[in-house]
Amino acid sequence: MNNEFEKKHRHVDSGHFRGKFGSFLDAETALREIGLKTGDTLLDAGCGEGRFSIPVSEIVGDSGKVYAFDISEESINSLKEEIKKRNIKNIEAFIGDITKKLPIKDGSIDVCLMANILHGLVVNKEGGSTIKGMFRVLKPNGILAVVDFKKIDGPPGPPLSIRLAPKEVEEITGKYGFKKKRVAEIGEYHYVVIFVKKAK
Ligand SMILES: C[S@@+](CC[C@H](N)C(=O)[O-])C[C@H]1O[C@@H](n2cnc3c(N)ncnc32)[C@H](O)[C@@H]1O
Repeated sequence: MNNEFEKKHRHVDSGHFRGKFGSFLDAETALREIGLKTGDTLLDAGCGEGRFSIPVSEIVGDSGKVYAFDISEESINSLKEEIKKRNIKNIEAFIGDITKKLPIKDGSIDVCLMANILHGLVVNKEGGSTIKGMFRVLKPNGILAVVDFKKIDGPPGPPLSIRLAPKEVEEITGKYGFKKKRVAEIGEYHYVVIFVKKAK
């Protein structure tokens, strides 16, 4: 952790699965926009307590897989409890730093999801290395989906000064081989930008 904001962000805004977050971002709507389907393998980068991983596991089904990574041990433990409670078989949850090389094979993932995390990584100048990592693990023509806060005043969400407009997200990902497919609004506070991994 390189600065006070990130320290606070990683701990305080840890993506609680239960409670008020439930209504402020509808994961199912976002996943519909992304076009996730049965049999897909998804990497949930910075999964928190599993707001996305849990509904993703239902959509991809037994023939699909979710790899969920978060740097917070507390969040991963909480997600693992939920997995156990619901007897979920297709999520593997790991403590891991998504800005570093993850233990995932090159070209093996259908969809990489970065939800409510890119703005914080950009503050720490870790956006580029993370996006590069997403490019490495995606299959050719795989999807990178970036869900983040609209560039409007909160609360909820981070300070306006560090929020990213979809155009800024596109500028960052474009440097690492992604082509924008489309942008969709997800409720009052969020958007999703959907990118495709371009063939080299
Ligand atoms: C705002 S939460 C979002 C959680 C989830 N994606 C969601 O939308 O509900 C951001 C998450 O990113 C995690 N995180 C921050 N930096 C990370 C890193 N370098 N590697 C992995 N996880 C990280 C935090 O621990 C936190 O759980």
